[in-house]
Amino acid sequence: MKHIMVTGGSRGLGLGIVIHLLNQGYKVSTCSRNKTTAVDDLVNNNEHVKWFQCEVGNAEQTATFVKSACEWAEVPLWGLINNAGIAKEGVLATFPNVESDALLQVNLNGALYFAREVLRVFLRQNTAGRIINISSIIGSRGYTGLAAYSASKAGLDGLTRALARENGRRNITVNSIAPGYLDTEMSSTLSDKKRDQIIRRTPMHRLGTVADITPAISFLLSDEAAFITGQTLTIDGGITN
Ligand SMILES: NC(=O)c1ccc[n+]([C@@H]2O[C@H](COP(=O)([O-])OP(=O)(O)OC[C@H]3O[C@@H](n4cnc5c(N)ncnc54)[C@H](OP(=O)(O)O)[C@@H]3O)[C@@H](O)[C@H]2O)c1
Repeated sequence: MKHIMVTGGSRGLGLGIVIHLLNQGYKVSTCSRNKTTAVDDLVNNNEHVKWFQCEVGNAEQTATFVKSACEWAEVPLWGLINNAGIAKEGVLATFPNVESDALLQVNLNGALYFAREVLRVFLRQNTAGRIINISSIIGSRGYTGLAAYSASKAGLDGLTRALARENGRRNITVNSIAPGYLDTEMSSTLSDKKRDQIIRRTPMHRLGTVADITPAISFLLSDEAAFITGQTLTIDGGITN
């Protein structure tokens, strides 16, 4: 059995990834700031999953979580899914710096701190491994009102490429997955008008679902994906074509 760590697994895409990986036979540790009923139910009914409280973006809490999760799992760590993220809209001229700082701290620095800790575990274990960063199409395309979010996801894709080069010799692959708009809590703030516009512009004529993303995660974690690294895989129903 292999251990996978998923950040932000209490709801939305992260929770979907946790459930998918459990069904695939992985042992899964996850974290978020708050425990939801959904993750509580899951943990109470499955001994192969454990939730920890951890503030992504806090280096000290990250190190503590990674250590505790590895001790709990008792099997080698195989992968990290950097999924936790926050989004906030607003044109930059009136967007408070403190909001940009908070967003970059979670979406970019948070992922970097996690990657650092997990790479240290891979080194100690002397094993191969996988890191998957959950990016966004907004990292490669400009969208009004999402400057900080876009910068955080573009930075994440840069981190992916640099870490892929740095760790390839040790058979550690690092990739990004860039979803389009997904039907989760994060996109629930979209106005009906904006939602309809996205759907109209998407060749597949709908928003994405968690189930559209999870197969790509298990593929990138698999042995079959051992030669794929430094890539950003877009899963967006064709909207960025
Ligand atoms: N939804 C979309 O349309 C969409 C599209 C493209 C990419 N994405 C990306 O996909 C990822 C997941 O998005 P989602 O839609 O599933 O979001 P979501 O429903 O808002 O869930 C976010 C998860 O991350 C956790 N989280 C947020 N900030 C955290 C922090 N500082 N420390 C620890 N955990 C934290 C949340 O738990 P707590 O709040 O309790 O901490 C929650 O578990 C994000 O990286 C997002 O940027 C989403």
